[in-house]
Amino acid sequence: MSASILKGKKGIIFGALDSQSIAWKVAEKCVDEGAKITLTNAPVALRMGELQKLGEKLGAEVIPADATSIEDLTQLFEKSMSSLGGQVDFVLHSIGMSLNVRKGKDYTDLNYDWMQKTFDISAISFHKLMQTALKMDLMAEGGSILALSYIAAQRVFPDYNEMAEAKALLESIARSFGYHFGVRKKVRVNTISQSPTVTTAGSGVKGFGEFFDYAEKMSPLGNASAESCADFCTMMFSDYTRMITMQNLYHDGGFSNMGLNPIVLKGS
Ligand SMILES: NC(=O)c1ccc[n+]([C@@H]2O[C@H](COP(=O)([O-])OP(=O)(O)OC[C@H]3O[C@@H](n4cnc5c(N)ncnc54)[C@H](O)[C@@H]3O)[C@@H](O)[C@H]2O)c1
Repeated sequence: MSASILKGKKGIIFGALDSQSIAWKVAEKCVDEGAKITLTNAPVALRMGELQKLGEKLGAEVIPADATSIEDLTQLFEKSMSSLGGQVDFVLHSIGMSLNVRKGKDYTDLNYDWMQKTFDISAISFHKLMQTALKMDLMAEGGSILALSYIAAQRVFPDYNEMAEAKALLESIARSFGYHFGVRKKVRVNTISQSPTVTTAGSGVKGFGEFFDYAEKMSPLGNASAESCADFCTMMFSDYTRMITMQNLYHDGGFSNMGLNPIVLKGS
C-alpha cells in the first residue's frame, strides 16, 4: 500500500539490470510512492533489453551512461532534467563490479589494472556522479543521494575480495562529499549497508550461498530482502529523513551488531 511519501519528487536510479536487481525494486517502489524517475545503466547492460521494459512499465525514460564517464554523466543529467522538468530530489547509486572477482582471482594474487577498474566503477563513480551533479546544479535543495554498500567495508569476508576496499572507499566518499553537498546545497548523502541479496552482482561472489545462509542465521530478523531495501531507500529519499546525512546505515536484520548466535553453532 502506497502512502505517496515521494509525491512530487523526481529522481535518477542507476543500476537496475534485471528484476532481481536492488535498483529495480527501488525504482518500482519510488514510482509507487509518487515519484517521477529516469533509469540508467551502462550501455552494455542495456543491450539485454530488460531495463527498457521496466522503463515502459514505470513511464520512465531510460538513458544509457557509463558511470565512470564524466561525458556520459553530463549527458544523463541534462537529459534527466529535461525529461523530468527540472532539478532532481534523489539519486540512487546501485553499481558494483570487480573483474578480479569475476575472473576468480584470489585476494593475494590480484591484477592491479583490474583492481583500479573495480575502484573506478564501484566507488570513484560515486564521486564522479556527485561532482558532476554539483557542477551542473542537478540537485534540488533538501535532496537525498544514496549508494549501496556491504559490511565487508568494516569486517573481513575473505571471498568478498577487493570489493571490501571498494566499499570502504565508497562509504568514505559519501561522508566527505556529504559535508560539501550539505553546506552548499542542503543535500544529504548516505550509504546503506545491505544484507547479502540474491542478484547478479551478489551471486557472482565466491561462496555467496554459504555467506547468505550464515547471515540469515546470524541476523535476529534474518537477511533483509531487496524489497525491504527498496522500502528503506524510499524512506531515505523522502522528507521524513531530511536531517540524516554522512551516515553508513545498516539494513541487515541486526547482523552488524551480533557477536554470536547460538543457532549458528547448533547448525540448524
Ligand atoms: N547483492 C548483494 O548481496 C549486495 C549486498 C550489499 C550491497 N550490494 C550492492 O548493491 C548494489 C547493486 O547490486 P545488485 O546486488 O543489485 O546487483 P546487480 O548486478 O543487479 O547490479 C549491479 C549494477 O551495476 C551496473 N554497472 C556495472 N558497471 C557499470 C558502469 N560502468 N556504469 C553504470 N553501471 C554499471 C550493472 O550493469 C548492474 O546493473 C551494488 O553496489 C552492490 O555491491 C549488493
